[in-house]
Amino acid sequence: MILPIYIYGHPVLRKVAQDIDPETYPNLKELIDNMFETMYNADGIGLAGPQVGLEDRIFVVDLSPLEDEEHPEFKDFKKAFINAHIIERGGELDAVEEGCLSIPGIHEKVPREEEIRIQYLDENLQPHDEVFSGFRARVIQHEYDHIDGILFVDKISPLRKRMVKGKLANMEKGKVACEYRIRTVR
Ligand code: NI
Repeated sequence: MILPIYIYGHPVLRKVAQDIDPETYPNLKELIDNMFETMYNADGIGLAGPQVGLEDRIFVVDLSPLEDEEHPEFKDFKKAFINAHIIERGGELDAVEEGCLSIPGIHEKVPREEEIRIQYLDENLQPHDEVFSGFRARVIQHEYDHIDGILFVDKISPLRKRMVKGKLANMEKGKVACEYRIRTVR
């Protein structure tokens, strides 16, 4: 089922999401399936719980559509991250353009660390403690920010922030054009 994607200005996007109890969480498998379906429908490569209105530490990523000769490592990079916690970040800060399904029509360069170490449960509730670098680390950090109530536009330069202020203000008023199913604050 395709879920509505919550748009910039909705307070749920600013909540620090909480760990879930996978044993008692209702229909976790179905939720993860729905999150992937919602993400694919909107041509995204990542989607986090708050973007579908949940205050739960869950996000999904799938980089396989970006696989090519230069990036064979994207091929099987389809993952759910449950109760994720980044425990280390390192390497150089690098600024690369990002977008977000909750902030349609805005793409800006975002500085992020090159490498992360993250602990999480996968969709089968198996625990992982892994290091990711490069673009995979970037996408994970973007989604991870969502479960901490942080959006990529928080991290762009003051000049660029001024440039996108009007568009963001419109989103907060519910004025946004989008081809996928969305929910605005009003
Ligand atoms: Ni996003």
